[in-house]
Amino acid sequence: MRGGAKNMDSKRGKFIVIEGPDGSGKGTVIEKLKERFPEIVYFREPGGTEIGEEIRKVLLNNPNFNADPMTEALLFYAVRNENLVTIVGPALKRGKNVIADRFSDSTEVYEFRMNGCNDPRSLNPFYRLDELVVGDYQPDLVIYLDVSPEEAVRRINKNSRVDGQNRFDLKPLKYHQKVRKAYFKALRRRCCEIIDTNSRRGGSVEETIERVCGEAVAIVAGFLRSR
Ligand code: TYD
Repeated sequence: MRGGAKNMDSKRGKFIVIEGPDGSGKGTVIEKLKERFPEIVYFREPGGTEIGEEIRKVLLNNPNFNADPMTEALLFYAVRNENLVTIVGPALKRGKNVIADRFSDSTEVYEFRMNGCNDPRSLNPFYRLDELVVGDYQPDLVIYLDVSPEEAVRRINKNSRVDGQNRFDLKPLKYHQKVRKAYFKALRRRCCEIIDTNSRRGGSVEETIERVCGEAVAIVAGFLRSR
């Protein structure tokens, strides 16, 4: 595990974030965690609250969405603020643990680093925004689901044949390589566990899912036990 949790109040619940690029299998892992830890509070971003789900539609369901990256980032942070005020803050104060499906690292990667903000000066607006909205509610742990860009593309293409509408279908391999690099940079400031979700040579999809979900469950259980 890298980094160190800042949360010193032992009665406060723990805040864990699951991050990973499209095709990393986040959805499957989170379903498993919900099954294994039903007492934990879960939410997703963008989404989570009524208003957050409305903003999600604006952000994701509109093929013509074409706003300045800062406008887009502010919409993601509006969703985040609502989640922090209505879900995360109250749960942690009651001693409940919380798991988020994506959080600030997604904004750092997709709206900032993928738009050419990689040096401290161009990332400064992101850090200021994050400090303003997230403040003391930085995650205690980020679990990053790593996948090679080649395997991510294979998985996305396979899934899109089923639902026929994955908007990441057309992203080239280079895009996925850039996202992965950006994530590794963003994760430097985090207390972070990385799970390799790539399938092992000759292994079946089911074996990979079982291994990855098993690792995620073990990490969460271990982290919550150790606090
Ligand atoms: P979603 O359909 O929930 O996919 P996934 O299962 O991969 O999470 O779409 C979420 C998309 O929103 C995903 O492509 C990443 C993007 N996103 C951002 O660009 N910035 C953010 O801050 C967040 C939370 C998500």
